[in-house]
Order: sequence, then structure tokens, then C-alpha cells
Amino acid sequence: MIIVNSITELLNATKKIKGSVGFVPTMGALHQGHLSLIQQARKENDYVVVSIFVNPTQFLEGEDLNAYPKKEEADKKICAWVGVNILFMPTSEMMYEPDELGIIAPAKRGFILEGSKRPKHFDGMLQVVMKLLNLISYHKPSTVRAYFGKKDAQQLALIEQMVRNYFLAVEIIPCEIIRDRDGLALSSRNIYLSPQERIQALKLSRSLKRATRLVMKKEFNVATITQTMHHLLSEIEVEYIAIVNRQFQPISEIEIGNTIILVAGKVGKTRLIDNLWI
Ligand code: PAJ
Repeated sequence: MIIVNSITELLNATKKIKGSVGFVPTMGALHQGHLSLIQQARKENDYVVVSIFVNPTQFLEGEDLNAYPKKEEADKKICAWVGVNILFMPTSEMMYEPDELGIIAPAKRGFILEGSKRPKHFDGMLQVVMKLLNLISYHKPSTVRAYFGKKDAQQLALIEQMVRNYFLAVEIIPCEIIRDRDGLALSSRNIYLSPQERIQALKLSRSLKRATRLVMKKEFNVATITQTMHHLLSEIEVEYIAIVNRQFQPISEIEIGNTIILVAGKVGKTRLIDNLWI
């Protein structure tokens, strides 16, 4: 594995690539969720590139940009161990100039749910993903596949739309959500949770499990499922429970194969999201 800390070094390294590239963008503090994306990229491609960059433009004022967990040395070891070829670790100064041309998330899909709770978050996220995808595609390798987790369902949908709208020559590969044994969706932010809060946090995935059971019993009514979930989450500061189709439009009846149930809430000071694809 080579570790590259500048854009010039990255382009020198990717110039030599012959074959398909699997790219996994991350903000580091790697866990099993990230690892599953990297392993899938490893299986499906000749080369694997991982980026670790805590992108400042997708954090809002008052969010945890400066406190965001950093585990550089461990991350490097994990990447080497799973067979990453190139690990890209840029700085903000390399990625941005002071007055940048930006990207704005689409009016409807971009400003609901996460977009309404974290205004401008998606603009910054799309901006950095565009930059990263362009860097990886710079030398026009035969195929570029970029791997994203379904854990961030709205992020994934917006990236797919950006690739479509801007005709990027990149294939987006959605990857399954990885959970701890007790059901908690893995997240770099889980380390903020005290043992007590972790127990509270489990209610998020349990409410989604309950929703699955209702659907299996042929309860397709969105209002009923939402109400049951609210009830289960009464001790958590719920930000939203939303049941939408894969285009992120609201629906009144669950449609098997075309539905996502999303939940977001705060446990103590930690904001967590989870979802379920039906
Ligand atoms: P980060 O939160 O580090 O996540 C990197 C990738 O790992 C994302 O595609 C995310 O959906 C995926 N991921 C995180 N937890 C997961 C889990 N439990 N199961 C499966 N996949 C999981 O998302 C970002 O970084 C940033 O917004 C980024 C895309 C890198 C742009 O800055």
C-alpha cells in the first residue's frame, strides 16, 4: 500500500493503474462498516483506493468537526491489512481554495430530513465527493466504482443523482448497513456514547426491527408504523421518523422493494441516524 498526502502524489500513483478502480471515500476512524465497503471494493476491482478526509465543508457550525474521532495510525494498519493499494490523506488546504465554486443539493430531496436538520451539510458533502471522484477518474481508468453505505441513505441518493446530473463516469455501488451484534448500526460517532446512552441508542434499530415485523404481518400503513415507532422511541429526542420511497418521496402505504424507513435522533449529545430498506 502507498500512502499519498498530496494531490500530485495521488495523480502520479493513479497514472500507473491499469484496470478497474474501487474507490471508498471515508472520514476515517474506520470501523467494520467502512471495512465492509473496502472489502467489497477489493473483491470487485483490480485496484482499491481509500480516502480519509474529515471534510470541513460538510460540518455545520457547532457540530463536531474539531472533535471528530481521529485514529490515523490504526486506520493505516487496517487499510494495509485489507489490501488497499492507495490511501489518500489530503489536508483541507490542498482540497480547497478560499472562495470556491460550490454545489447545491437539489431543492426537494436535498432539503428534507438530514438536509433540513443539517442545512448546507449536503452541499459540502456533494462538493467533496465531486472533487474526490474527479481526482480518482483523472487518468480515465477503464472503470471507476465508488462504494457508499446505505447507512447514509439520503447521502447515497444524492450522490447517485449528482453522478447522473453531471454525467460523471463513475459507477456508484450501494453497500449494506453493518451493525453490532446487538443491532446498533456502526458509526464513528458511537464512541461518544456512554454505556447508559448506548442502551438508549439501541432503541433506534429496535424501532426499525419492530417496523419490519409489522410489515411482515402485512401492516403497510405508514401512519400506523410511524406511530408505533414514535411510541418505542419516546425516551429519545427523535428528530424525524420518515417513510419514503427510494426517490425520497413521502408515501402512505409501504411498497415492498421500494421503501426506506429512516430515523434520526439524539442520545445525550450524540446525533445518530439509522434506516431500513424494505
Ligand atoms: P463516513 O461517515 O466516514 O462514511 C464513509 C462511508 O462508510 C459512507 O459511505 C458511509 O455510508 C459508510 N458507512 C458508515 N457506517 C456504515 C455502516 N454501519 N454500514 C455500512 N456503511 C457504513 O459518509 C462520509 O464519511 C462522508 O460524508 C464522505 C462520503 C466520506 C464525504 O466526506
